[in-house]
Amino acid sequence: MIIDIVTLFPEFFEPFLKTSIIKRALEANLVQINTHQLRDYSHNKHKKVDDTPYGGGAGMLMQFPPFYDVIKKLKKTSDAKVIMLSPQGILLTQKKATELSKENHLILLCGHYEGIDARVEQLIDEEISIGDYVLTGGEIPAMILTDAVTRLIPEVIHEDSMAEDSLQKGWLKYPQYTKPETYKGYQVPEVLKSGNHQAIETWRKVQSIQSTYQKRPDLIKDIELSDLEKKILDEIIQLKKSNG
Ligand SMILES: C[S@@+](CC[C@H](N)C(=O)[O-])C[C@H]1O[C@@H](n2cnc3c(N)ncnc32)[C@H](O)[C@@H]1O
Repeated sequence: MIIDIVTLFPEFFEPFLKTSIIKRALEANLVQINTHQLRDYSHNKHKKVDDTPYGGGAGMLMQFPPFYDVIKKLKKTSDAKVIMLSPQGILLTQKKATELSKENHLILLCGHYEGIDARVEQLIDEEISIGDYVLTGGEIPAMILTDAVTRLIPEVIHEDSMAEDSLQKGWLKYPQYTKPETYKGYQVPEVLKSGNHQAIETWRKVQSIQSTYQKRPDLIKDIELSDLEKKILDEIIQLKKSNG
């Protein structure tokens, strides 16, 4: 997988690319991540890439020609996917990240100021938002998307741990604990120390469904429930009703 990131601030990405799992994925050649300075595609001798909006209004807009040129340069094959980071896009979800992790080549466009000349929409495949709020630029959203996608690329992280991650199968992950067993009276649940694998598995399933029901009930409508999950969920709902 190649991820090309077009930005006014390539330096933003330096620590991100040199740290932890992303660094290891790059070193292992599981992903290639390149940053591209948009100013290198400026048509202006001062490397300017923004101007005032037609029709008036506050702020500056990023110009179309540098984006046109950089996309034409980077998109060498038809399977490269051009994604503009934008608060107007569809929300990035684990499902979308999983879908993108199967692509061969992503080209991410980071906006700044008031955003990008709208003609760019004719050159992109997708417009993605990382949440319903407005940030100053697309760099943090591009890092979030890159991180979410890269960790899903085979071999980047342990597949077993990924399969049980929150949202991967719709549910939130069950609570986890590590040593020490007790601290200032705060205990680890007994079942996790029992060595009874079947009991631990059942406890985790119940906890996972309970956490989802309590914290993110909106997720449940998109999950295809197994008979067991449905039974556990019904019991949790009944218990909640009887406890008021
Ligand atoms: C200040 S924003 C521009 C917002 C634009 N004026 C609007 O109202 O839609 C500048 C850039 O930050 C990025 N950005 C801001 N919020 C974002 C979000 N929630 N998700 C993805 N990108 C975002 C986009 O690349 C955007 O072009």
